[in-house]
Amino acid sequence: MKQTTIDSLGEFEGKEVTLAGWLYQSRSSGKIQFLIIRDGTGLCQCVVEKGNVTDELFEQLKHLGQESSLTVTGTVRADQRSVGGYELAVTDAQIISPAEDYPITPKSHGVDFLLKNRHLHLRSQRQWCIGRIRHTVIDAIRRFFNDNGFTLIDTPIFTTIISEDQQSLFEVDYFGSSLHLTQTGQLYLESAAMSFGKVYCFGPTFRAERSKTRRHLTEFWMVEPEVTFIDLDGLLELAENFVSFIAAQVLQKNKNELEALGADTEALEKIKPPFYRLTYTEAVEILTGPKTRDYLAQQLQELQSQKQQLESRIAALEEEQKGPIKQWKQEKNAAELIELRSELGEVSTRIENNPQHTRLAAEFQWGKDLGGSDETIISQMHDKPVFVTHYPKQAKAFYMKTDRDNENVVLNFDLLAPAGFGEIIGGSVREDDYERLLQRIREYNLNPDTYDWYLDLRKFGSVPHGGFGLGVERTVAWLTGEKHIRQCIAFPRMMDRIYI
Ligand code: 4AD
Ligand code: MG
Repeated sequence: MKQTTIDSLGEFEGKEVTLAGWLYQSRSSGKIQFLIIRDGTGLCQCVVEKGNVTDELFEQLKHLGQESSLTVTGTVRADQRSVGGYELAVTDAQIISPAEDYPITPKSHGVDFLLKNRHLHLRSQRQWCIGRIRHTVIDAIRRFFNDNGFTLIDTPIFTTIISEDQQSLFEVDYFGSSLHLTQTGQLYLESAAMSFGKVYCFGPTFRAERSKTRRHLTEFWMVEPEVTFIDLDGLLELAENFVSFIAAQVLQKNKNELEALGADTEALEKIKPPFYRLTYTEAVEILTGPKTRDYLAQQLQELQSQKQQLESRIAALEEEQKGPIKQWKQEKNAAELIELRSELGEVSTRIENNPQHTRLAAEFQWGKDLGGSDETIISQMHDKPVFVTHYPKQAKAFYMKTDRDNENVVLNFDLLAPAGFGEIIGGSVREDDYERLLQRIREYNLNPDTYDWYLDLRKFGSVPHGGFGLGVERTVAWLTGEKHIRQCIAFPRMMDRIYI
């Protein structure tokens, strides 16, 4: 008898194997028990029939608590209806460590509860699927750059130089002097690019984000390529090939996980170059024009009818819960009610926000950075990622190169993921002229002395160059259809929540 894992059961059809894992769910009906076992590679239904195991074991298994660890031995049978396509006809089992009163039951739980129990919640099917997809995303990121002539450069986490904005710095006391945690590896990466040509860095990034939105973490992972002798068009091409490669890898390697999560795989099939391209000025025209007004009005109607449907379904379930009703049905209803109420909460919030978002879009002034709701609107109107390019220079970072044909804007882009997800990449061509860069540093009230090494790059053989940064958690959230990016990293850090 062979010990194996659930993902390789296909090789052992008709044979007897042993699985080692945890009890995920179980139900029994008299002479037969169905144990769902998880082992880190998948789920498998194990069928225990009375008479096939000792009576003593049959009783033990019947009372075994969720998340008890055990080994199960049995014959592999193909079964289309079973999770994973195979089931085990159990002949023996050994309990390794019984668990009682596991706090996370198959019922739904609130967000706070699950975050407090993150160390256990990671075992849930949803978190497992997201974790596997995140793994593929990270593997695809490395593969793409490694196979395309990029050299990995590890940039520092303690930094002395401000790159993005001064408000979101995490200060660190470094032997009595003040430093901060990195917001981006970009400036260091630019020096490395002058040595290696095409480079990337990939690591944790820190921002003291005070916004408690679904798109912000205080610690997140960012990958940043930097390339010499490239222009804005070249960067857009690199970014669309890169993102398309990630999406294709996830589709190829994680189809089952995507389906289990209810992700829109058809939408992901469309993620191929070319992506849509809008200039910032065109985006502003869309936001302030009739197209957005009509779009948001129609969306409001749809949300209202969705709200009505949710309310009547909730009322029906609540009524059913009062009556004489089987225990399992009661539990099933309770779980559905939690889901429906949270969905109703979301729909109601969107209805409440609609007038404000409509007003913000209509009154949008050229010159400001696009706000979260503006990005959402543009992104909802597209079925593939959208590049927004040429932002007003005052809305963006000091290092971005101004467009020499229109000095009011910079040669930059944000990439907005479709269907309302919003920004997943920010990037630009970098200012490569010494005097202009110095001027920009002064305009941003930054101290030129701290930028002396960065300015040196413009003194000794300056070349056109640029790059971008892609946020891993936002990308995973978009691909998996997960609403909040906190679910896309194992141990999320946010302004108001660090539990473990
Ligand atoms: O647009 P950002 O701020 O760009 C930079 O940092 C550039 N220096 C990158 C470069 O050109 N090398 O951040 C890049 C991406 C965003 O598009 C987003 O995906 C992610 O990083 N990001 C965050 N993700 C989660 N939580 C936050 N607080 C994030 N802030 C940015
Ligand atoms: Mg950005």
